[in-house]
Amino acid sequence: MKQTLESIQNRLSEIKRQNLYRRLKYGKINGPYITINSKKLVNFCSNDYLGLSSTKITASQSQSSSRLVSGNDTSFMKLEKKLAEHKSQEAALVFPTGYMANLGAIPALVDKNTIIFSDELNHASIIEACKLSGAKLQVYRHNDVDDLEKKIKKFKAYNKLIITEGIFSMDGDYSKLREISEISQKTDSFLILDDAHGDFTVGKDGKGTPNHFGVEKKVDVYISSLSKGLGSFGGYATASNPVVDLCINKARSFIYTSALPSFLVEMSLSRIKQNRAKQQKKLEKNTSMFSSGLKQIGYDIKSQTHIIPIIIGNEKKTLEFGRFMYENKVFAQPIRYPTVPKNSARLRVSVTAWLEKSHIESALSVFERAAEKFKLV
Ligand SMILES: Cc1ncc(COP(=O)(O)O)c(C=O)c1O
Repeated sequence: MKQTLESIQNRLSEIKRQNLYRRLKYGKINGPYITINSKKLVNFCSNDYLGLSSTKITASQSQSSSRLVSGNDTSFMKLEKKLAEHKSQEAALVFPTGYMANLGAIPALVDKNTIIFSDELNHASIIEACKLSGAKLQVYRHNDVDDLEKKIKKFKAYNKLIITEGIFSMDGDYSKLREISEISQKTDSFLILDDAHGDFTVGKDGKGTPNHFGVEKKVDVYISSLSKGLGSFGGYATASNPVVDLCINKARSFIYTSALPSFLVEMSLSRIKQNRAKQQKKLEKNTSMFSSGLKQIGYDIKSQTHIIPIIIGNEKKTLEFGRFMYENKVFAQPIRYPTVPKNSARLRVSVTAWLEKSHIESALSVFERAAEKFKLV
């Protein structure tokens, strides 16, 4: 056997030994359900928080080119105008995914005199982007504003960038955006916010976490996904004109890749124009019904949002918990290292507007049985 293949197999065995092996499951999504191997489960791990993703679309011709060549369909102009308005910013730029928005925008905004301050629980795409940028990097303790301020004060002479999520993707907690934005103003630091999970789901008209905290004007760059709250596909950044202009000129994941197909751009455009208030209300109602139900059972739930992690710690036990939920027709995926730190494995449950009261009630009864079986409360 070639040495490389042998080492690949050894690495796979090691991943399995640590209970960190991932296997793809194939499923068909239909409203609140997912069918896997002919088994119909209620989907408690979708990011289609508002339940908007089911519209039938007609695919138009794909542009098959990057946006700076011949892929810049006129629909981009309309969507970017709407996205800039949505975030009260001057301009917006659509990327093929939210991952690519981080990977492109963050390095584009950095020069050799920049230092980035990044929350330790920031999403993988932010971590990769920071590494890729080549900037100096200081990771501050999760949501710890004292640690952030202390670290910033040590680096007065640099261009400073603070990066945080709005709602953390694996913990479901809000960032302390009010305090962080104050620090950013006080220390003349640029504030970049990845609001992939708060965008369209919280704040007035789904304007996101900064609107929820009343600090919209204090965020310099927003990054988000169109694939979650909006139930569409793609990613974007919004900011002032010079920031977006620099991204067009420097963001490599924007320049050197094919444009998002225009039918996906049009899908986002139609969703952003639609009134989503009913779905946002339902999401809030479902979230409060589900999390208070879990608390009543005795689960220690700290999240105040639609992302509700049930933290187990041990990887093997979390897999067994997930298996039990699966057998009982509740689909909630175990999340393990490296998505979350080692020994903090969890079931990441997400609530959507798709769910009806009966789905939530029957899921809660399975969570109640699981609590007893796995001694979770
Ligand atoms: C905080 C955060 N940023 C960015 C992304 C990437 O977004 P997309 O799925 O559009 O690539 C995710 C996806 O889970 C995320 O959680």
